[in-house]
Amino acid sequence: MSEMLQEKKKERCERIPDAEAMRRVREHNDTIAAKTGTRPGAFVLTFGCQQNEADSEHIAGMCREMGYTVVSSPEAASLIMVNTCAIREHAEKKALSIVGQYKHLKAKNPSLIVGVCGCMVAQEHRREELKHSYPYVDLVFGTTVLHEFPTLLLEKMTAGRRRFCADVADHVVPEDMPVIRESSYRAWVSIMYGCNNFCSYCIVPYVRGRERSRRREEIVAEVKELIAQGYRDITLLGQNVNSYAKGSGWGYDFADLLAELDAIEGDYTLHFMTSHPKDASSKLIDVMACGKHIAHHFHLPMQSGSDAILKKMNRHYDRERYLSIVRELREKIPDITLTSDIIVGFPGESEEDFEATLDMLSTVRFDMLYSFIYSARKGTPAAEMEQVPPKVQGERFDRLLALEHQIASENNANMVGKTVRVLCDGVSKNDESTLSGRTDGNKLVFFHGEAQTLTGHFVQVKIERAEPFGLYGEIDN
Ligand code: 5AD
Ligand code: SF4
Repeated sequence: MSEMLQEKKKERCERIPDAEAMRRVREHNDTIAAKTGTRPGAFVLTFGCQQNEADSEHIAGMCREMGYTVVSSPEAASLIMVNTCAIREHAEKKALSIVGQYKHLKAKNPSLIVGVCGCMVAQEHRREELKHSYPYVDLVFGTTVLHEFPTLLLEKMTAGRRRFCADVADHVVPEDMPVIRESSYRAWVSIMYGCNNFCSYCIVPYVRGRERSRRREEIVAEVKELIAQGYRDITLLGQNVNSYAKGSGWGYDFADLLAELDAIEGDYTLHFMTSHPKDASSKLIDVMACGKHIAHHFHLPMQSGSDAILKKMNRHYDRERYLSIVRELREKIPDITLTSDIIVGFPGESEEDFEATLDMLSTVRFDMLYSFIYSARKGTPAAEMEQVPPKVQGERFDRLLALEHQIASENNANMVGKTVRVLCDGVSKNDESTLSGRTDGNKLVFFHGEAQTLTGHFVQVKIERAEPFGLYGEIDN
């Protein structure tokens, strides 16, 4: 990119990775490649949500710009980057345990660089822990400074010192980040970063900073380019996409953005996540109902069915408001697939509160649920509230799963005999004789066909048999 363009982007407070830092790391790696005949490898490991997966695709892209080959095993790497998650304790424990295993690789290869980035290390106590208990970790930085990765890596390489970056740059909207996308037909497109909601259980606003949105013209250009490259399934990402461009004074909102993207010609489907019920608007539902390319799928995290718990969670809606959105969605888009997130065992949750959640499940009959046992996150208000004993949390979680299983089975059974559009993902991981794919509503479908010609393409599948978490059928074009 020209220097003038770089300057223009900076003026708009949009940052790109430092081209000079990338060039210098590349020079270093070119020299190694010339001497040894092999390019140094970079291994990127990802924990957590789709936003992290999207971030990792940019880490991989920057690695390639810097002269690394992206490799699929840590043993083959000269640079290891672990992109961490902090949403629940389990995710942090898993990441730390994996980082622990890299000690042996570093002992065998002292020039190996080990980096840890992402949400977990945006917390000071985790950075301190890595600094003191993981002396072989060289590079640590949080999500808001992802674009600084090349600069930090160069500093580590030239000064030789470990680099622990405590900076928070939550006013920055990175643009023109190099990228290696995992798939050639499914793509993530971040439309905004951060969150302003401060739900009382959630660490995200602390680790990803305040909400900031990308400009509409940047997003439209990226999506147009993806469609031109043959991408079929594009998911717009943000912690709360419904508040896209809020307070920006730009004169447009998420529904306007979605309508503009939907108007692009091509054979593709648009998804978005995540929506907060407090901001889900009739205007958005209308745009979805009239859309040509917008998946009839709404992921609307409910978290709890108890008004008292929703209040304690700082969610700003109640059961009635949630149900009114569901009613409007089903009225205007009868074939809508509804999915949700539920937290079980939030502090102070009584048996009655929990039963209110079960009652909402039976009322709404979600197509799919992502359910979680509450995990106390240091620094969040809920961590200071009276906790529900783990045994009670576990029992409630099992009861929730049993009900979800029953509802999912019944919902899926209703699909038998119907023909659905499926984006084929190729050979199924569990059964080599079968192909798998996903419907617009993200339901898993198994069918027969030729992987080579169908992978990455839409097919019509007539459903013949249903299991709680999968549908089975044959192509019916
Ligand atoms: N404990 C359990 N689940 C959580 N989530 C967010 N924070 C926590 C926590 N502390 C869940 C919410 C959110 C999803 C991404 O993760 O349901 O919607
Ligand atoms: Fe967390 Fe709530 Fe923001 Fe979602 S909306 S990221 S749950 S604080």
